[in-house]
Amino acid sequence: MAIEQTLVLIKPDGLTKSLTGNILSRLSETRLEIAAARIVAVTRELAEEHYAQLKDEPFFDELINYIMGELHERRRVMALVYHGEDAIKKVREICGDTNPEEADPRSIRGAYGRITTSGIYENAIHASANPEDAEREIKLWFRPKEVVYRIYPVQEIELEEVKRLDWA
Ligand code: PPS
Repeated sequence: MAIEQTLVLIKPDGLTKSLTGNILSRLSETRLEIAAARIVAVTRELAEEHYAQLKDEPFFDELINYIMGELHERRRVMALVYHGEDAIKKVREICGDTNPEEADPRSIRGAYGRITTSGIYENAIHASANPEDAEREIKLWFRPKEVVYRIYPVQEIELEEVKRLDWA
């Protein structure tokens, strides 16, 4: 079994319904380690990049609005990286099927997800589907220094005249 990392997003419906604690508790059953976590205000650019493979789907625009929090009062997601043996499969199993109506009721999506009247899956959580997606998604949502265990190669780059926000 390989040491893997996988990206988890607790989506805006999960945050609005105060499900963060419950979802994290369920994920802790995997015995994986959290290697990174941040609260993100999702830009359209990030949302479209994350779901780039789905751009031709009829539900793409609604999916983008959903992940940006346009359908909920919380325009935030919680992004996490889970790390450990077989992490991708372990997290996907506890999430349940993508379609919340088909998901095992004991899974996260089965317990907390729903399908909206317009047919969009509001399934509370995203988890990377395979190693290629996991690498692409982790690199999209996190910088190397935000991830405590590194399984992907990094490089040092020199920046000139960088401005950054600091505490006043
Ligand atoms: S997966 O989990 O990537 O294997 O699932 P997939 O079936 O490829 O779905 C990709 C994402 O699209 C979201 N979505 C929908 N899929 C199908 N039909 C409808 N109506 C729909 N609405 C939304 C689905 O939730 C997947 O996103 P994530 O973030 O992985 O849940």
